[in-house]
Amino acid sequence: MTQGILNVAVIGCGIGRSHIEEGYARNLDGYRVLAVCDLDAARMAALADEFGIERRIRDFDAVLAMPEIDVIDICTPPALHREMILKALAAGKHVVCEKPLVGSLAEADEIIAAEKGAKGQLMPIFQYRYGDGAMQAKHLIESGIAGKPYAGAAETFWKRTAAYYDNPWRGRWKTELGGVLMTHAIHMHDIVCFLLGPVSKLFARTATRVNAIEVEDCVSSSWAMESGALFTSTATLGSEEEISRLRLHFEHITMESTHAAYSPGDGPWRFLPASEEAGERIAAALAAVPPVGRRYDGQMRAFREALAAGSPPPVTSADARRALELATAFYHSAATGADVSLPLGPDHPKYAGWRP
Ligand SMILES: NC(=O)c1ccc[n+]([C@@H]2O[C@H](COP(=O)([O-])OP(=O)(O)OC[C@H]3O[C@@H](n4cnc5c(N)ncnc54)[C@H](O)[C@@H]3O)[C@@H](O)[C@H]2O)c1
Repeated sequence: MTQGILNVAVIGCGIGRSHIEEGYARNLDGYRVLAVCDLDAARMAALADEFGIERRIRDFDAVLAMPEIDVIDICTPPALHREMILKALAAGKHVVCEKPLVGSLAEADEIIAAEKGAKGQLMPIFQYRYGDGAMQAKHLIESGIAGKPYAGAAETFWKRTAAYYDNPWRGRWKTELGGVLMTHAIHMHDIVCFLLGPVSKLFARTATRVNAIEVEDCVSSSWAMESGALFTSTATLGSEEEISRLRLHFEHITMESTHAAYSPGDGPWRFLPASEEAGERIAAALAAVPPVGRRYDGQMRAFREALAAGSPPPVTSADARRALELATAFYHSAATGADVSLPLGPDHPKYAGWRP
């Protein structure tokens, strides 16, 4: 169990800014951002000045050597995550890491093995789950009130132009590790698995049609869930109106997320009961669900509470592995034209990586 206020070092000052503004700065009873780290000194100074952060350090290893740092929060480009996580765990720190956690199932299993002997806990980021709508949906499903799942659909319809790809790591297999599937739809797919449980089969098509990049920017897919429910997910980076939308149909309820592109977990979701009696049960159940903080606020708060209680992180490396397993199935199906059965282990041809 970890008590008191934890000292955090944020590594990477792009989305790292949102971790501070939306997450740590709203949970000052649990965290203090003591240091920022970035190779870009000007970007780092601007962020440190904005939030009054004392220590500005360019060298990641120097941050790890600071005994007063409790949490290393990794917000660097994806291909750097694996080594930084392993080093931070070896240094005895708690670790927060942005998505995608690492670049293959083999690497995910390596991280999970390293965690077992580590003093610190690792929490991968999946902040889109943190919203009152998604958490209410989770409660209705887990309590059995929703009933048998039938079918559903997810849409990740966002817009990215050439300006977004004017960043050396984006758009390339080697450094971004994937496209709309890996970087953008991964959030919605995490919510789907969080709510509907394991996927048993998946068929997918991918295409690059919007931008002049190596990785995919359009995907469509058909999933069979272990429960027997059927699901589809489509994503593109060429939508003139940006929306994220999840619609799920159950025996006793149809539910639909908000369409907010970057916070579909927020309430209110539409909950349409199948009968008057179901409506009464749903209303009573929803009244008992406590509010959660939005996005990074909710996820960082839940992590602090888990550390204090000595319980597992609210999002685990197994959740991150599941997202990467799904991505591996997507890329394998798209490359072979086959329906892919999950789970995927060391005997799968793309276990060591999905990159072409
Ligand atoms: N969860 C989300 O909603 C969300 C949103 C955006 C990005 N991300 C993820 O966050 C990560 C970073 O994305 P970004 O948009 O902030 O990228 P970015 O390129 O804007 O920022 C990354 C920063 O890391 C710094 N950096 C690179 N190598 C470093 C090193 N060795 N030591 C210290 N700093 C180093 C760079 O100088 C840069 O400032 C990616 O994994 C991305 O997928 C997640």
